[in-house]
Amino acid sequence: MAAFTIVDHDYDVVVVGAGGAGLRATFGMVQQGFKTACITKVFPTRSHTVAAQGGVAASLGNIGEDNWQWHMYDTVKGSDWLGDQDAIEYMCREAVPAIHELEHAGVPFSRTPEGKIYQRPFGGHMRDFGAAPVQRACAAADRTGHAILHALYQQSLKYKAEFFIEYFAVDLMMDESGCRGVVALDMATGTIHRFKAHQTVIATGGYGRAYFSCTSAHTCTGDGNGMVARAGLPLQDMEFVQFHPTGVYGAGVLITEGSRGEGGYLTNSEGERFMERYAPTAKDLASRDVVSRSMTLEIREGRGVGPEKDHIYLHLEHLGADVLHKRLPGITESAKVFAGVDATKQPIPVLPTVHYNMGGIPTNYMAEVIRPTPGQPDATIPGLMAIGEAACVSVHGANRLGANSLLDIVVFGRAAALRCKDIIKKGSAHRPLAKDAADLALSRLERIRTANGSQTTAMIRKNMQRTMQNDAAVFRASKTLKDGVAKMGEIAATLTDLKVSDRSLVFNTDLIEALELENLMACALTTITGAEARHESRGGHAHEDYPDRNDETWMKHTLAWVDDKWKVKLDYRPVHSYTLTNEIEYIKPKARVY
Ligand code: FUM
Repeated sequence: MAAFTIVDHDYDVVVVGAGGAGLRATFGMVQQGFKTACITKVFPTRSHTVAAQGGVAASLGNIGEDNWQWHMYDTVKGSDWLGDQDAIEYMCREAVPAIHELEHAGVPFSRTPEGKIYQRPFGGHMRDFGAAPVQRACAAADRTGHAILHALYQQSLKYKAEFFIEYFAVDLMMDESGCRGVVALDMATGTIHRFKAHQTVIATGGYGRAYFSCTSAHTCTGDGNGMVARAGLPLQDMEFVQFHPTGVYGAGVLITEGSRGEGGYLTNSEGERFMERYAPTAKDLASRDVVSRSMTLEIREGRGVGPEKDHIYLHLEHLGADVLHKRLPGITESAKVFAGVDATKQPIPVLPTVHYNMGGIPTNYMAEVIRPTPGQPDATIPGLMAIGEAACVSVHGANRLGANSLLDIVVFGRAAALRCKDIIKKGSAHRPLAKDAADLALSRLERIRTANGSQTTAMIRKNMQRTMQNDAAVFRASKTLKDGVAKMGEIAATLTDLKVSDRSLVFNTDLIEALELENLMACALTTITGAEARHESRGGHAHEDYPDRNDETWMKHTLAWVDDKWKVKLDYRPVHSYTLTNEIEYIKPKARVY
């Protein structure tokens, strides 16, 4: 083993990840006086939240009447009744104060003529329990994530959060009492850092990069999910992967749903606005799973556009240059750069593209990680929280509504900080760590650093991404899922034949990418195995051999454990069929109508 230089740190709280969720938690922790470290593998304002475009949902009612009960109804329906209604109630109620706090923290939201926060329509957001569209997505032009990320970073610095930038979290430190902190590699110096903490908050984002084509940054490699899986804890509902209807054809770059909110629409090769057939009420603003499936069916039935008839057109030309420049400047530029299209004059070629992971680390609505025990499906593990896309609260269930992701990160980042106020004593002493506390992390690091097989990270990663893209796609079927599970098992096994060429510890991107690949592999395997087992269609999981939702058998959360031989074990836990307060009743399952 290399002679690692080990540096020890003591904090009240360690947050892993500096996207919107991580920064909102960090800001909340330091505001309350907790000694807080935020560890991040990229510079905070380069986190993937910076790419979030269209808006953050909250029933402010700035442009037409709205309330949190309608928002909750839409979110439950959007989730296809797999969301936990106590958590959904919490999110939709807390949305309003959370947005006002962001406004006061300095987020430069776009404004209505009266000076209120501008809100635009988004898919699935309706008033009066589904009657008609409502403008609920609070927007900063089409750069809402960028605006939020910068404000939260500035606030965290103002309150003296301590940032460890370009530190890669390798593994959690666990003992019989729970989570004791995290081991990280300082990528610039190669030193190892053991962060002891009373709470470790995982905010590492999603794992879009398990797929070949996605809107996610290259950094979205499911690092927190991988750490949790290696700690012997389950991941939840991983089979639910959201395809965003409008990724730029060939590039995957996001064109915000806010563009359809502003009046954009989709057409097929016959010039038909086909969403009118599939979703007569919501049309182009039906929820994403519905629009992505409709587009895929149009292409399959020969009505795709382009020489290969393999994509769809998004029209914004009719909105006019003024609206595009004022409300949608970012995507107008993306259309130019990535599709060579002037969106003021031409339609943009688009295709459903992997965008979001509904599944992740199971938590309750206070961000505490769940470790079910026999008879206690909601038992939590001390010292460990998860928030944002890394977590599965579950507020999105089987399908997330647009603009509910930025909401999720700010509400549950904030919730983590509020919960810490109740359960941690500031500055309290840490028990000493066991001598071998960092052993799991260090032996893994060493195994990968010295890996001397014949397959590079890039080769194995491509095999994984292609398999996920083909076999766990918008539409799934028993045969392809079964083949996919077998293929993914074989691909995971090739990790024993990994080759890492750079043996150093200083800015070794070969090593970092290999560590990320192991994290992605845990995510990919649990996704495709959970999908193969779920014999129904629900939200983002559209199973051609089981086209109906089956509440009797399948209204339950999947739990998936991965062992050190990459074998996946599944179990299930109940969906919360109750609300948090008696101010709203449980919303009973019904067929989704659009
Ligand atoms: O389309 C978008 O702007 C994406 C928003 C979201 O995923 O919430």
